[in-house]
Amino acid sequence: MAVSIHHLRRLKERAQPIVALTAFEYATARLLDQSGVDLLLVGDSLAMVALGYPSTVPVSVEELLHHCRVVRRGVEHALLVADLPFGSYEQSPAQAFATASRFLKEAGAQAVKLEGGYRRMVETVAFLVESGVPVLAHIGLTPQAVHQLGGYRIQGKSEQEAARLSEQAFALEAAGAFAIVLEHIPAPLAADITRNLTIPTIGIGAGPGCDGQVLVTHDLLGLSEKPPAFAKPYVDLAALIREAATRYAEDVRDRRFPL
Ligand code: KIV
Ligand code: NA
Repeated sequence: MAVSIHHLRRLKERAQPIVALTAFEYATARLLDQSGVDLLLVGDSLAMVALGYPSTVPVSVEELLHHCRVVRRGVEHALLVADLPFGSYEQSPAQAFATASRFLKEAGAQAVKLEGGYRRMVETVAFLVESGVPVLAHIGLTPQAVHQLGGYRIQGKSEQEAARLSEQAFALEAAGAFAIVLEHIPAPLAADITRNLTIPTIGIGAGPGCDGQVLVTHDLLGLSEKPPAFAKPYVDLAALIREAATRYAEDVRDRRFPL
């Protein structure tokens, strides 16, 4: 049965971990979906790992819409969530709805993710949810704010920052977010936030105490140029691809292929 936002809540209630990955194109999206992943995210990490941008800041709505449509064609089971890119939602709830509704109407997303838990973003989450757009929130290390944060550093290390993140998580739950991504914060803080919320948390670089885990699929597969230290490659696809291409080149040059 296809995964719904309600199913994710039930998984938390049953203490069953939620499995999430990013998906960027049709072939891998199909395979990930067939593997029984619960949630597939057309993340704006696409910008860095698949489009070659230096950060997630430059990627456009049109680019993410395109990839979301492509992924949609390969996904039957997982809940399909799309990132709203930087600059497409921060100005106002109305701007956010205009962008989010395109992902649902034109690209088959079932929910959107947006970064930040400050007051206006909480208002925006409430507006989207009231308008029928399920929202996955995202706090902690929010890569779209890389220039503000001064790098991809762990967040929530001071007591004050930890308290602020806990407050944001509460406020986002109250605003109606169906789950929250916690990125690169101390494991005890993530576990604490997770215990105190009724909606699921999905961690990345946030320790084992979250209700689920998400990884960038390029990191999972060993395809990223600079994977974060907290990512775990499950296979070295970069080596396999290089080896296949090298063998092919040798065969063509030595006239062993085709026979
Ligand atoms: O863009 C992305 O891949 C993400 C996940 C890492 C949560 O936002
Ligand atoms: Na993202």
